[in-house]
Amino acid sequence: MELGLSGKAAIVTGASKGLGRAIARELAGEGANVAICSRGAGEIEAAAEELRATGRNIYAQAADVTDPAAVTDFVERSAQALGGLDILVNNAGRAHPGTFETLSDADWQSDLDVKLFSMIRCSRAALPHLRARGGGRVVNINAVFGKYPDPAFFATSVNRAACLSFTKALAIELAPDGILVNSVNIGYVETPQWERIHERRAPDLRREEFLRRTAADVPLGRFGTPEDVSAVVAFLASERAGYLTGASIDVAGGFGRYL
Ligand SMILES: NC(=O)c1ccc[n+]([C@@H]2O[C@H](COP(=O)([O-])OP(=O)(O)OC[C@H]3O[C@@H](n4cnc5c(N)ncnc54)[C@H](OP(=O)(O)O)[C@@H]3O)[C@@H](O)[C@H]2O)c1
Repeated sequence: MELGLSGKAAIVTGASKGLGRAIARELAGEGANVAICSRGAGEIEAAAEELRATGRNIYAQAADVTDPAAVTDFVERSAQALGGLDILVNNAGRAHPGTFETLSDADWQSDLDVKLFSMIRCSRAALPHLRARGGGRVVNINAVFGKYPDPAFFATSVNRAACLSFTKALAIELAPDGILVNSVNIGYVETPQWERIHERRAPDLRREEFLRRTAADVPLGRFGTPEDVSAVVAFLASERAGYLTGASIDVAGGFGRYL
């Protein structure tokens, strides 16, 4: 399938590793020019070096998506470096475990900042550039927990539901501008985030055993790979997904018992 991504300009937040890095790699592999950010300057530059092997124009910047000024600066510099903007992938984020009784206001606030407010601020900053192109794509990386709450990830579940509503409302508001907005909901995908969860939760279990037990609820019986996700994101970002907006697509191996 020809995706029509060649020469498009894309931003991927949180792309030094994990899903963001795979998404940036996939988009660059399809011929897009890509701007990436994460907080760690060394890691984001290393990711950019790898992406430059595709021959595409790659722009990298250390930027924290919870910092409003840093978001504006990153989006503006990215649009300048890439000559405009067609695609925004809101991916930066992290797991925030904790039950209702263990989470403080500060925990809730920091989780909202990294999940919901990063999407709000990055989308707001990208909007004039997408409009200037006469249309574009926003893909929000979200979590199945937003539809299938888990009290062990209480704030994540609640805040990801807000991200789903944000996606739908923005899709409706921006449809007349030809800007299509969709959510990709992750279940369990093996990334560095899971190395940290493994160390915290069950350091004595072998990695394979920890992943096997965690994925016991997944009908396909395994963790996803970052490439399982990046393929879907590339499609949503593409010309071929021209009649898809406000959609909420699970990339989760069937995880989540709901219709
Ligand atoms: N993997 C899963 O099973 C899973 C499940 C549900 C949802 N998700 C969501 O999918 C997204 C990607 O997750 P992942 O598993 O790839 O995580 P990961 O392996 O921890 O990678 C996260 C990336 O985001 C960056 N990042 C984190 N906080 C940031 C911030 N405040 N500003 C800028 N960049 C930031 C990290 O770099 P720095 O630390 O250097 O900033 C890193 O590049 C997240 O939104 C996550 O919540 C993942």
